[in-house]
Amino acid sequence: MKPLKFYLITDTHYFKNSLGAYGKEYEEFMDSEQKCFAETQSINEATFKFLETADEADILLIAGDLTFWGERECHEDFTRLLYDFKEKSGKKIYVVTAGHDFKNNAFGFNENGRFPIESIEFSELYDYYKDFGYKDAIAFNKDHLSYVAQLSEDVRLLVICNDIESEKHITYDSEFLRWIEEQAKKAQSDGQMMIAMEHYPVLPGQPVLALIKDAWQAESQKLVETLADNGVHLIFTGHMHNQSINVTKTKKGNLFYDVCTGSVIGWPSFIRLVTLQDENTVDIKSIPTPEFDWDRKGLSSKEYLIAQFEKMIRTLITAMRDDPNRFMRKVNIQSSPAKEKLFSFIGKKLNKMTVGQFAHLLFIKADRNIKNDSFVEFAVDVVRSIFEGNQPYVEGTAGGDLLLKVFKRMSPFLKKMKDSQGNRLDFYETMKHTAGNYGIDDYNACFKLSE
Ligand SMILES: [Fe+2]
Ligand SMILES: [Fe+2]
Repeated sequence: MKPLKFYLITDTHYFKNSLGAYGKEYEEFMDSEQKCFAETQSINEATFKFLETADEADILLIAGDLTFWGERECHEDFTRLLYDFKEKSGKKIYVVTAGHDFKNNAFGFNENGRFPIESIEFSELYDYYKDFGYKDAIAFNKDHLSYVAQLSEDVRLLVICNDIESEKHITYDSEFLRWIEEQAKKAQSDGQMMIAMEHYPVLPGQPVLALIKDAWQAESQKLVETLADNGVHLIFTGHMHNQSINVTKTKKGNLFYDVCTGSVIGWPSFIRLVTLQDENTVDIKSIPTPEFDWDRKGLSSKEYLIAQFEKMIRTLITAMRDDPNRFMRKVNIQSSPAKEKLFSFIGKKLNKMTVGQFAHLLFIKADRNIKNDSFVEFAVDVVRSIFEGNQPYVEGTAGGDLLLKVFKRMSPFLKKMKDSQGNRLDFYETMKHTAGNYGIDDYNACFKLSE
């Protein structure tokens, strides 16, 4: 097989700035957002400009959530950007659409507050994106807006879509799984390598994310087996706006890798450069998205995106103290006067605690290098690193050892924990591998698709 290279980006969440993203209510909204909003047009333009001249590959994959909330004008603008890119660079684009791309209560902001914007219907997506995968597909499933693209002489891309007309975040039924199996088997009998792309992660990006239903493909094991046991060992995903590379093995002994990439318009913001060296060897590189044009108040693009991410986490922790009802709404806890008092009390304590004082509550001693640090800042860093990947809180580091002791203390109370798909989870192991990365490098890795 001839080596094949391509770029991949995801969660572009394009928003046409002139629609309106400013005002007091906008600023309040942005206190709790990971994604940029007003800046997304500029970030996308800079990213496509960079990719236009990036000369390592002439294929670009985009793994869904193309617009902010499926706004008609954003699709019009974004597809203009794609056509322009295609024409100037001569590169090919393959997309999958997702939940943010149709039938939403889209909105903008101006000096009078929030106002609604028209979003498009699922049935309109084909026309907007026909020239970015659908029209030239060698197999096409209209109901699922899913397809097979011939990327090169000997590599095929299977694009599967999880958000369709009738429902978003669907469980794949047996009919659709049969369609997937057929495509995989056909690739095998034609002597082709097949890789896949869908918006939803198939393996949880980090172990703790398995607790959240919306964080991964429903009944994911069925899909993993359908793909891996029929020769498809690699999928590219997005949705959770995190950077991760995970692997699992099916009962039949086949490996399956999920490469999840961060959103272009929020931290961590990266472009993947993928090289299929041969049918068994994959090389992944991560390229930071370029500097974008904006009044960044002296910050680099990276610092600017990190500041937005950290503001979201800090707002959540301070809301516990200042506005417990807002906190409960954000973390999906039903509010009551008793809970309001409880969270306000915990919030007040946590917001002025040091790491050492927090550890002391659990009868644990924190290392002297970190014991005087602010607990809030420590928590912000832990959460950020979970999304960032290559999490540094591993065994043998001051922060890692402290967290491992905390998890050990808590684990007797969480013995019966199950993930959102009913699988047993070992609390200690789940948290250990969430706080620290002991597996594959989440940014730059080279791996074999079969042993
Ligand atoms: Fe997204
Ligand atoms: Fe999404």
